[in-house]
Amino acid sequence: MKALRSLVATLTIFGMTSGVAHAEDGYDLWLRYRPHPAASVTVSQSSPTLAVAAAEVRRGLPTSAHPVVLARTSDPQVAALRLGLGALGDEGYAIRPVRLGGRAVTLITGNSDRAILYGAFALIRHAQTGGNVATATLTSTPRIKLRVLDHWDNLDGTVERGYAGQSLWDWWTLPDYRDPRYVDYARANASIGINGTVLNNVNANPASLTAPYIAKAAALADVFRPYGIKVYLSERFSAPIEIGGLKTADPLDPQVAAWWKAKADEIYRAIPDFGGFLVKANSEGQPGPRDYHRSHADGANMMAAAVAPHGGIIMWRAFVYAETNAEDRAKQAYTEFKPLDGKFAANVIVQVKNGAIDFQPREPFHPLFGAMPKTPLMMEFQITKEYLGFATHLAYLAPLFKETLDADTFERGPGSTVAKVIDGSIEGHKLTGIAGVANIGRDRDWSGSTFNQANWYAFGRLAWDPSLSSEGIAREWSQQTFGTNPRITTATVAMMAGSREAVVDYMTPLGLAHQMATSHHYGPGPWIADLARPEWNPAYYNQADRAGIGFDRTATGSNAVAQYAPPVAKTFADPNATPERDLLWFHHVAWDRKMASGRTLWPELVAHYDRGVGYVTGMRARWATVKPLVDADRWQKTASYLAVQEREAHWWRDASLSYWMSVNRLPLPAGVAAPEHDLAWYKRLQFPFAPGQGK
Ligand code: GCU
Repeated sequence: MKALRSLVATLTIFGMTSGVAHAEDGYDLWLRYRPHPAASVTVSQSSPTLAVAAAEVRRGLPTSAHPVVLARTSDPQVAALRLGLGALGDEGYAIRPVRLGGRAVTLITGNSDRAILYGAFALIRHAQTGGNVATATLTSTPRIKLRVLDHWDNLDGTVERGYAGQSLWDWWTLPDYRDPRYVDYARANASIGINGTVLNNVNANPASLTAPYIAKAAALADVFRPYGIKVYLSERFSAPIEIGGLKTADPLDPQVAAWWKAKADEIYRAIPDFGGFLVKANSEGQPGPRDYHRSHADGANMMAAAVAPHGGIIMWRAFVYAETNAEDRAKQAYTEFKPLDGKFAANVIVQVKNGAIDFQPREPFHPLFGAMPKTPLMMEFQITKEYLGFATHLAYLAPLFKETLDADTFERGPGSTVAKVIDGSIEGHKLTGIAGVANIGRDRDWSGSTFNQANWYAFGRLAWDPSLSSEGIAREWSQQTFGTNPRITTATVAMMAGSREAVVDYMTPLGLAHQMATSHHYGPGPWIADLARPEWNPAYYNQADRAGIGFDRTATGSNAVAQYAPPVAKTFADPNATPERDLLWFHHVAWDRKMASGRTLWPELVAHYDRGVGYVTGMRARWATVKPLVDADRWQKTASYLAVQEREAHWWRDASLSYWMSVNRLPLPAGVAAPEHDLAWYKRLQFPFAPGQGK
């Protein structure tokens, strides 16, 4: 009995605070600490945040680690060291080997307890990726202020576009039961610098603002607070009617403004550090200020006035397109928002998706970046892979995030990157932010697969510092997730490196977009052309005909190119200057157009599909080489998913080629495999129960 008890005790250390011992089921994420006697940690002041930071270091550092001291920069002992730490701000940390009280120690310091917590995780990361704790000298300050996860979680437990099980929030048992998993969620986020979470779907249920649900959100806020994470809520613009009994939600109606003010006061009584609201208005059927012939600024500013006395903010989404608007969907957000530049209240930040359509495998950067200098703009990425094969496809998204962040808007001449627009440095904005639509659910491994965890991780790391490299992030994630055996690191980093490009290749190469089947977005549907509105149809986006393929967004077409700054517009207006990866996004070109490779467009397109499929085959082969080195459970699940991905990459290729051939009537290039089935076979496939459709 005694032996059994000590075995249980040992096993418990493996799991995170849930206390459930599943050594290698992915639950531990990148925080895969091995059991060891606690490292020596001294904390010079006390606070809930310093307590969790110290506990983390004790658990996370190897036995042999140097003594660690956690102390604020204002601590007289730290001040006396005159470390010359410069501008750490309120979240930056510094780690230094110093002598304190006659002892050689590793000091973690910062101007706030949150900064010290970030430093604690940075030191653990340093150790887990092979660094020496005794000599660690690290300084880092986040470039972006609000680093937020957006959960598209519904009150009934479903997750819109979620592929990792039910919602993590058990709304039914909250606020009484605080699942220990909420703590582990907060730890994981704090470890990568995320400091905000929007709990509910942007397609918001007004009930989330009623007293019982405010109490539930407050319970989560209590759990997250020591980890420096603020809670935000999505709101439904018509809530004053639905739960307030008013006749209108007109933002200029004083009763409506008073209702929101009272609602904000009520929330802040329960959650004193509530972050604010995220709003999807007049988009995809959601109510909004336009219903009352008011502008988005009128709506946002009314909300902003309600939270301003409490220090709250409004994240107002620019993802708007009206089903009744005949304008190219890619142009509508700019058309609506650009004239509102300078009209938003100081505590409003406009949240813009990375591209102008909708989280496609590849999109050129959104033309609003660089076009609204008087308005803080917040980036919105999608971490969950709605359009990139759901959780079963391996696609490492850091290259997608980086491609947008590094894109040059030319707002103030060359070098005006999107990253500099959103970090506020170009226009001097203090309110800055970046959001990622979470890929987290109640699956044991949180994100539906081990490699999907890397996308959560990479989002956080890039939100903290957009200049980090995709490869560097992949490497440190792999080392923490699978250990530091260089054979595993090399294989996994190589798999991840080109995985997103492979998805682009087998789904939507050369600038194609939105070729996914209707509603659930699972699998190919380039032939779909019978839905009521043109922009609901993949055929609208590919514009394929006998002569050519692609969407003309130049002056002879929708002229979306004119929404970019002149040097960018000039490039995109010219098919010879447009990067080939974006060619069909901006141009309708002939099937026999000459490409850089020397091939014409048709064989080039075919080669991209084949390259995509081939990459997945290559990932399977690489993964097979690490089988003896990776634990059986995580290896097997990944191997099974790679097999799914290979099968589906073939499906995408074959279905797409069948359709293009039915349109262009061209033969396949010599030596290229014919699609496995005829077009009718692919068209017949139906997936009514594909996940992620809950509302
Ligand atoms: C996409 C997605 C929707 C989501 C919307 C949004 O269109 O398919 O499920 O609601 O984006 O970002 O609001």
